Amino acid sequence: MELKKGYFITFEGADGCGKTTQIELLNNFLNQKGIETLMTLEPGATDLGKNLRQILLHYEKPVSDEAEMFMYLADRAQHAQMIIKPALDEKKVVLCDRYIDSTVAYQGYGRDGNIEQINILNKIATKGLKSDLTLLFDVESEIAQNRLGKTKDRLESQGMEFHKKVRNGYLELAKQNPQRIKVINANRTIDEVFLNVKNVIGEFLNI
Ligand code: TYD
Repeated sequence: MELKKGYFITFEGADGCGKTTQIELLNNFLNQKGIETLMTLEPGATDLGKNLRQILLHYEKPVSDEAEMFMYLADRAQHAQMIIKPALDEKKVVLCDRYIDSTVAYQGYGRDGNIEQINILNKIATKGLKSDLTLLFDVESEIAQNRLGKTKDRLESQGMEFHKKVRNGYLELAKQNPQRIKVINANRTIDEVFLNVKNVIGEFLNI
């Protein structure tokens, strides 16, 4: 099934919200319907990004907040320009695990960064490429923490308080962008959440 144009759909949420499972389910579902997709992620979709991801998630010495932010933005610039934009030009449905909103939620709300500045930097990095639709997987911090278990990387090991700040930041973003951001209750089972995802996407893509 050829679509009239490309669609850019991003998946967002605090750690442990289950969005990675859902993006894979949706990717299979759309492919079964004959819709061409590109499933991708941040950080780490490009070769440059893979190097940055390694540092972002596993570097053990202290990293300044600004250095961290610029690495996410560098990853995004490469990703948006080299991978996402060309796929949209080919009329694909791009399913992206994290994008612009992650930097606002984590580096902005989570780390008390300046959100106005982050918005400007995001715009520069992406040359203004925004998602058409964003699914925000909202999960209670206690449930997320249980899901994450013991295998935590540098960012995930920062605890409950940080998680709550990120979660509330996302909810604030959803309030400010009700057209673009759809909140999905991710406290439920995988099947229940996916039913919700299919409904939202079905309506959005008219399929
Ligand atoms: P990852 O293991 O991919 O986590 P997840 O499966 O939850 O997406 O790690 C990505 C981490 O990077 C995650 O903790 C969120 C963080 N992050 C930011 O802090 N800022 C950003 O701009 C992005 C894209 C991710």
